[in-house]
Amino acid sequence: IRTVTSEAIKNKKVLLRVDFNVPIKDGRVIDDSRIRAHLETIRFLSSNGAITVLVSHLGRPKGKRNDAYSLRPIAAYFKEVLSMDVQFVDDCVGEVVKNALSNGKPQDVLLLENCRFHPEEELNDESFAALLAEPFDVFVMDAFSAAHRAHATTRGVTKFLPAYAGFLLEKEVSILSSVRDNPEPPLALILGGSKVTDKIGVIEHMANKASTILVGGAMAFPFLVAKGYSVGKSKCDEENVTSARHILKVLEDEEVEIILPVDIVVGESINSQQASGVVKVDNVPDNMMGLDIGPQTVKEFSKHLGKAKSIIWNGPLGLFENPAFSRGTMEIGKIVSEKAKEGAVVVIGGGDTAAAAKALGFASGVTHVSTGGGASLEFLEGKILPGIEPLLE
Ligand code: 3PG
Repeated sequence: IRTVTSEAIKNKKVLLRVDFNVPIKDGRVIDDSRIRAHLETIRFLSSNGAITVLVSHLGRPKGKRNDAYSLRPIAAYFKEVLSMDVQFVDDCVGEVVKNALSNGKPQDVLLLENCRFHPEEELNDESFAALLAEPFDVFVMDAFSAAHRAHATTRGVTKFLPAYAGFLLEKEVSILSSVRDNPEPPLALILGGSKVTDKIGVIEHMANKASTILVGGAMAFPFLVAKGYSVGKSKCDEENVTSARHILKVLEDEEVEIILPVDIVVGESINSQQASGVVKVDNVPDNMMGLDIGPQTVKEFSKHLGKAKSIIWNGPLGLFENPAFSRGTMEIGKIVSEKAKEGAVVVIGGGDTAAAAKALGFASGVTHVSTGGGASLEFLEGKILPGIEPLLE
């Protein structure tokens, strides 16, 4: 990958694609992990005398200007939390950008308004990409977590400017490709979250490299149904059962072992203040839903993880947002942190898993927590992401 150098950007006007798609509540950033992940690149550009102009999307405003999706609170965040002056520019193309740049000095950092206020962004419209590029000398792509989108700010713009990878994107690509392509064996995959369908590609791509696939979270239920168990009111639909059947079939020809929960923490609803109990998988009551993996399953998973030298984890193992059902994810978090301490490579990917790791306190104990949700999944499926392809040498 072509990573940015000081010569490439010295005293230049640089358009830097970041992913500031972060949760904001009442005008305040409530999880700044993604912002912090870009600081190394921002500081590098700025300290080398570039005028650094940040461009990002936030949410899905569907091509229309909408204050609820404005990036303005992030300029405020830079000032308040990081004591950095970041000038906010009310649009991402046109005269306002040119004016702001003509007043800009080396080392200045500017932040453009949400690029998805323009429908042309997601259409990867070529003349819009040209307009975006026009006031700049260089483009730096640092938004790994948006690199699976072929949009004007991630892909189109590279047609008009010399393009480089930022340090976050470089790090994500280097760690994820090494664990995907050359993991030190044995490799264990831990898969959770709600949809089997989302994980088919990863399982198919990684099946011949992994020794074990541990399945938890709501995606375990379609597998249990496919194996003939009944799962009560647990989250499970026909589409995901079909996907689970497909995966079980694919795995028949592979050496990898798939491990499903043997016991489940059940509750009356996702809002229950406490769990109703732990049941064996062949004994889930009709009126209950499974909301976490049980203690026996944690032990079982732990046994398999014990041997692993590489671990990739995508998707929480229970409804971790509710403390009554966070235990399975937390216990496995402790185990994988321990593994990382002993020298195993432990990579966590996926927006929800990253949030769980942060909320439950094991994010700092692992080798790498990817900023990518969909992007890290597609990367692990072996795809060349459209936002990365133009940066390859
Ligand atoms: C993400 O949160 O995964 C990225 O910011 C991409 O967002 P999107 O799914 O709306 O394109």
